[in-house]
Amino acid sequence: MISWRKHYKKTLIAIGLLLSTSASFYGQDGDPKNGEKLFKANCTACHALDKQVIGPPLKGVVERVKTEGGVDKDWLHKWIKDNKALRASGDKYANEIFEKYNKTEMLQFPNLTEKDIDDILAFTTNPPAPEEKKTEAKTATDATAAAPADKTTTNIVIISLLAIAGLLVWILLKLRQLVKLGQSEELAGLNETRVRSFKEMYEKFHYVGKAVIAILAILAAYGVWNWLMWIGVYKGYKPEQPIYFSHKIHAGEQKIDCQLCHSSAKYGKVSEIPSMNVCMNCHRTISEYNADHYMEPGKDKAFYDGEIQKIYAATGWDPAKQQYTGKTQPVEWTRIHNMPDFVYFNHSQHVVAGEQAIINSFNKKNPNNKIDVVCKACHGKIDTMNVVQMANDFTMGWCIECHRTTEVDMNNGYNKEYFKNLHDKLKKQYPQDGGKITVAAIGGLECGKCHY
Ligand code: HEC
Ligand code: HEC
Ligand code: HEC
Ligand code: HEC
Ligand code: HEC
Ligand code: HEC
Repeated sequence: MISWRKHYKKTLIAIGLLLSTSASFYGQDGDPKNGEKLFKANCTACHALDKQVIGPPLKGVVERVKTEGGVDKDWLHKWIKDNKALRASGDKYANEIFEKYNKTEMLQFPNLTEKDIDDILAFTTNPPAPEEKKTEAKTATDATAAAPADKTTTNIVIISLLAIAGLLVWILLKLRQLVKLGQSEELAGLNETRVRSFKEMYEKFHYVGKAVIAILAILAAYGVWNWLMWIGVYKGYKPEQPIYFSHKIHAGEQKIDCQLCHSSAKYGKVSEIPSMNVCMNCHRTISEYNADHYMEPGKDKAFYDGEIQKIYAATGWDPAKQQYTGKTQPVEWTRIHNMPDFVYFNHSQHVVAGEQAIINSFNKKNPNNKIDVVCKACHGKIDTMNVVQMANDFTMGWCIECHRTTEVDMNNGYNKEYFKNLHDKLKKQYPQDGGKITVAAIGGLECGKCHY
């Protein structure tokens, strides 16, 4: 009896669930298999079936919005297509959930057809049986979700390695203490044999100990390196560099064009740190800092001169003899911006094709803080920074926000060629924006465009 009472509620819920799923099963009018595909392609960045991600869990959402908001499938269609418009229309429930999720914006999906949406809803109502789901979900998320999992494992690995390393250091210190103790206390007679055996043991085994520590150190460094790659995507990241190279002095004071040094930004995927030869083009003759026009507080001429000398050390330039000695030592700049491996970002797409679009859109949004060079839209005012610092958080949300709000420049040579036929079609497809074509409209929100 007691156990019945204990399970009374659960049983009721179970019966309720059973009824509701079977009811909706019979009332279903979509293809859950296709829905699953669409869901994975469009929604899993922010939704899971049974846990909250960025948005609410979507399992059984058709029933849930009915009970919680008194709204029907029609409402869901409107919400999924364009939640912003629905909210703007003053819809009560739409505004309620928007508030509830701290005004986090869901994407709009004008491309999904009514049937697509029915399929997705059918999938959320009747997800495939658990085993099937597990394997499929695994392969589908492997590429993307592997990274956060990696992050946790890396952290665990680092912590355990640090713990082990700490333990080893402690043991070593103890050993040394014991050896020293033996040496200092002149209990010679009694302890001699013991001390000697310790010494012998130490001499015999310290190579093994050192080797173990070396291996651990390498592993730990690898872990830390991986970890750094991750924290590399945070706003404000500002590591120290092997040469105190100031962008404020070069790009600001001296007005040297960004692309003189970062020339590959125009042509390729990465925009690279210039090689030392690029520095030597100027510094073969500029061997001293001329202190009269600008000096960072706390630095002096001698400091800057010393940093310029490092270029000579790196390239093996002998300024006295005006020749190369052939002895070079590479400068290892710490990489500041670094996307995870599963992200594809291409500079030339933004610096060449997107140049005007990005500058215009940025200046429209920041009328008091206009930019002249496209790079600054993403990297901030590098020409005012002595030490480069990440000016944005470089997350997926950041990329997407710009793609949603930046109108593509259909008139530049690159896009004219590329989108010759597409342009008119797009204009018809997105009449609601008055023919405005954002990066989103040309596919800039498609997962596959940014993810391998
Ligand atoms: C960029 C993140 C994001 C993406 C992508 C996204 N959503 Fe959402 N979704 C949200 C957020 C956040 C909410 C909560 C309401 C709000 O803050 O606007 C939400 C709410 C919802 C709701 C209302 C649920 C309720 O409990 O009332 C539905 C339905 C929904 N999303 C369906 C979808 C579908 C279907 C897709 C894929 C086609 C999708 N969403 C893609 C972020 C997203
Ligand atoms: C004289 C050569 C030179 C010029 C001109 C120059 N840079 Fe740099 N840039 C460097 C060097 C060297 C580094 C690496 C050291 C550092 O981080 O400061 C670097 C680093 C950077 C980084 C960080 C790279 C990373 O590791 O993620 C960015 C972003 C950058 N530059 C943007 C710019 C922009 C934007 C301009 C123009 C306003 C510019 N640079 C002008 C030489 C130059
Ligand atoms: C286009 C010419 C040019 C190039 C290329 C160039 N520099 Fe300079 N550099 C200058 C000038 C000009 C000054 C400032 C001299 C002055 O004001 O007296 C300077 C100053 C410096 C200083 C002292 C001030 C500071 O920034 O700390 C360092 C260090 C330096 N450069 C390093 C480099 C490195 C490293 C590179 C290659 C990545 C490089 N420079 C490339 C022209 C150049
Ligand atoms: C649309 C945004 C955007 C614009 C515009 C942009 N960058 Fe970047 N930049 C990035 C991102 C994102 C990364 C990180 C790329 C990665 O890790 O794969 C990056 C990385 C870099 C790096 C580090 C090395 C590398 O290529 O990964 C340098 C240097 C750099 N940018 C310079 C520039 C210069 C110079 C310009 C202008 C000519 C410019 N960027 C314009 C977003 C931008
Ligand atoms: C400041 C605005 C801005 C930011 C930030 C930005 N982009 Fe873009 N992106 C653009 C513009 C504008 C275009 C269109 C260029 C053109 O005209 O072809 C574009 C195009 C693209 C395309 C090609 C889309 C297509 O359908 O052909 C990809 C891929 C892309 N960006 C990836 C990224 C990634 C990844 C990030 C974040 C790391 C990012 N972008 C951040 C403005 C931006
Ligand atoms: C405009 C480019 C762009 C588009 C489109 C895009 N992503 Fe991303 N995504 C990124 C970037 C950049 C990161 C890395 C962000 C970081 O490291 O903080 C990322 C990270 C992720 C992650 C890792 C989670 C995390 O927070 O690190 C997942 C999962 C993901 N994206 C899924 C998706 C899905 C699903 C879609 C399609 C709805 C999508 N992405 C579309 C740029 C994009």
